[in-house]
This record gives sequence, structure tokens and C-alpha cells, in this order.
Amino acid sequence: MKKIVITVDGWSSCGKSTMARQLAKKLSYIFIDSGAMYRAITLFFIRNQVDYTDEQAILLALAQVHLSFKLNEGNGNNEIWLNNENVESFIREMPVAEKVSEVAALGKVRNFAVAQQQLIGSEKGIVMDGRDIGTAVFPDAELKIFMTADIAVRVERRWKELKIKYPKISIEEVRDNLASRDHADSTRAISPLRKPGDALVLDNSHLTPSEQLKMALDWANEKIKD
Ligand code: DC
Repeated sequence: MKKIVITVDGWSSCGKSTMARQLAKKLSYIFIDSGAMYRAITLFFIRNQVDYTDEQAILLALAQVHLSFKLNEGNGNNEIWLNNENVESFIREMPVAEKVSEVAALGKVRNFAVAQQQLIGSEKGIVMDGRDIGTAVFPDAELKIFMTADIAVRVERRWKELKIKYPKISIEEVRDNLASRDHADSTRAISPLRKPGDALVLDNSHLTPSEQLKMALDWANEKIKD
């Protein structure tokens, strides 16, 4: 059967990874969470106190970063490894969330991550989610999905997730983090978040996870049989 590239871009916390992961499972495709790559690089930069204003320091740091995705047999998910460590849970913590948009705006970091994303997708049969996947990473992808949801819905969903780890976190803190990431991601100079001109829009404000999955799967099957 023909294999295609499916890109899923959109705002922070609108369920891109959840939908993209389920879609990949249904199609027996590889799922890649490109945000996890930027988060893992950010974790490395925080741990090693890398000075983002120093181009040489950025290059030196990136030379020490090796990223890979490995299947966790326990939960069936592809998880990110930074050098020899599974960092899947660390990269979801607040210190990384607060810095990641700044690190992801650095040209050298984007070149580093995009080159790896393009290599991973070169064989097709992939669903990748992020902010610039349909515009910069795979501009020729067969199916591009742009996900969105009302900001209030996104804040509520993210707050419920974060409260498990951070019981004291307020809804305002979550709203501020999302709003500032959305602003930074859509206004940065290099590959800002944009809806690709040829993307199909999936607004999941009022859809259940299974309704949105069905919509995406129907679109994918259309493209695969083309
Ligand atoms: O999808 P996420 O929230 O885990 O992504 C974390 C950050 O990484 C997000 O604020 C913007 C950045 N990012 C990016 O710039 N380009 C991508 N393709 C994916 C994520």
C-alpha cells in the first residue's frame, strides 16, 4: 500500500500529539512528536546552563546532543531519549515548558532538529506533529492537518493534566504559559507557526477524541488511495 507523510501542526495544547499518535497507530505508521525534540534540547541547555546568546556555545552544546526515539514496550509509545537517558517525563515539566519557545526560536537549534526530522521522514509512513512540519519540514507532504481549539478549552485541558503533577498550579499560570508560547511560536523570525495553505483544518473544541480521529483517518485514507 502507498505510504504517505502526514503533518499535524497547530497551537499549544490542542491535542496534536494525542491525535497524531492514534492516527499513526491506526495506519501502522511511525509517530514523531517534534516538540519533544525541542523540549529535550531545552532540557540539555537548562542542565548545562548554555548561554543562548552565544552562537559558539549553542553549537558546542548541540554537538553533545544525541536524540533518538525508542519504543516503550510497556505503553506502546515512542519515547524520546537524550544521549543515554529516557527524558520523556522530564521534558513535560514546567522549567522546560517555560524555556522551550525561546530555545526553539534559535536558528541553529531549528536547523539541527529539522535535519533529523527530514531524515526520519524520508521513508514516508510517518505522522509528525509540531508547528512547522507542513510548512518547513515537509512542504510536499501528501496530507497536512492544522489543529486548533478555543483557548479556554485548551487551557482547561492542559490545567487538568498539569494539576496531577503540580496540585497548586493555577489556571491563570497555565493560561499565561500557553498564551506566551502561542505568541512566541507564531511571531518568531524563523519558521513561525502558520497554517499551511494546503492544510485541512481540524477544530476539536467540540469533538470527542474518537470523532476527531475518525475525521483525520478518513482524510488519510482518501490520500492513501489517490
Ligand atoms: O508541541 P509541544 O508543546 O511539545 O512543543 C514544545 C515547543 O516546541 C513549542 O512551544 C514550540 C516548539 N516547537 C517548534 O518550534 N516547532 C516544532 N515543530 C515543534 C515544537
